[in-house]
Amino acid sequence: MQPFVFNTVRQVVCAPGAALNLGQQCATLGASHLLVVTDPGLMAIGLVQPVIESLAAAGFEVTLFDQVREDPPEETVLTAAALSRKAGVDGVIAVGGGSSMDVAKVVSALVAGDQALSEMYGVDQVTRGRLPLILVPTTAGTGSEVTPVAVITTGATTKAGVSSAVLLPDVAVLDADLTLGLPPAVTAMTGVDAMVHAIEAYTSRHKKNPVSDNLARQALALLNDNIRTAVHEGSNQAARANMLLGAMLAGQAFANAPVAAVHALAYPLGGHYHIPHGLSNSLVLPSVLEFNAPEAASLYAELAPIVVGADVSGSDESKTAALVDALRQLIDDVQLPATLEQAAVKESDLEMLAEDAMLQQRLLVNNPREVAYEDALAIYRAAYREAS
Ligand SMILES: NC(=O)c1ccc[n+]([C@@H]2O[C@H](COP(=O)([O-])OP(=O)(O)OC[C@H]3O[C@@H](n4cnc5c(N)ncnc54)[C@H](O)[C@@H]3O)[C@@H](O)[C@H]2O)c1
Ligand SMILES: [Fe+2]
Repeated sequence: MQPFVFNTVRQVVCAPGAALNLGQQCATLGASHLLVVTDPGLMAIGLVQPVIESLAAAGFEVTLFDQVREDPPEETVLTAAALSRKAGVDGVIAVGGGSSMDVAKVVSALVAGDQALSEMYGVDQVTRGRLPLILVPTTAGTGSEVTPVAVITTGATTKAGVSSAVLLPDVAVLDADLTLGLPPAVTAMTGVDAMVHAIEAYTSRHKKNPVSDNLARQALALLNDNIRTAVHEGSNQAARANMLLGAMLAGQAFANAPVAAVHALAYPLGGHYHIPHGLSNSLVLPSVLEFNAPEAASLYAELAPIVVGADVSGSDESKTAALVDALRQLIDDVQLPATLEQAAVKESDLEMLAEDAMLQQRLLVNNPREVAYEDALAIYRAAYREAS
């Protein structure tokens, strides 16, 4: 067996209503004045107020930062950090999707030390500690609550990652009640993102290991079995809880066995077209798996029974084809657009997108098959319109 290292959060709390009981965790962490990080949409639907009220009722001081934008820019992070310093907070809580959690992670590190944000990008560049950090996801989703990564928008079309064990929170709190009102389209996109995390972790080239493999398989089963119900019957508590658990397990998997070409080709779509992260992944997923098949068919064949059903049979190649067909069907069932054309991507932009994808070497090195510029372009072309 290959030697491996596996890191994750110290504590996961998984219970309905857990978000209304954060005082207990804050006290254990020695925090008394919390920055609560969220976005305006979540404030507007009243999801965050009860969390703040429960903290106040338990005697904690709260400073609210509710201005997180999707795909958060650096400016958002710096504004939240300045507010935190001014208020003198000694702990950070995110209630939100990947955008809010990623802002909270970086803010907790910025406020604890004097390192500049520009020095934190890359792998293991955070040199100081962080404030106590509790992450409460409201999408099921990025898995950011258990990953060492924060993704920040650094320019008009570019994103950069801060990846450091320092950013793993003290506690990840999974409260499915918070996800009951997640709209169908967001449920579908974020759910497929989580499935991609599981699939890419399972084929990750260098760091795949027995722990990440088990997590990825379990995650894929939970997500595949529950995503349709979560999309079409949003108030189904059991489906929501399984999605949240699946997304967290997938997050633990890819935190240790990193994602690859699906994400590398998805990022330029987010950058140039502001297509949400999960949808960008969904749009290129089938074509990337088809491209990877010559190198990864034996691994895809292992995942096929989870998605296609136990009776899938034949060679590794035919099981892989059945897996890709089942994923295309799933994308259709949850009512996401199937092609780049349907997502209003311009065919004349495909070369530019392929050039941008090649910049994502941090991710491409994890892909089971090497991806050159011509390959990236061929994948985008294949994803552009459905074969007629
Ligand atoms: N840190 C990581 O490991 C990691 C991994 C993958 C992606 N990301 C990043 O995460 C971000 C995407 O996060 P996301 O997909 O969770 O979406 P998000 O946080 O950007 O939220 C998307 C939208 O959904 C709404 N929403 C969230 N929860 C809701 C709820 N329960 N009810 C109603 N509306 C709700 C929000 O208000 C927002 O408008 C991107 O910036 C991406 O790059 C980070
Ligand atoms: Fe993702």
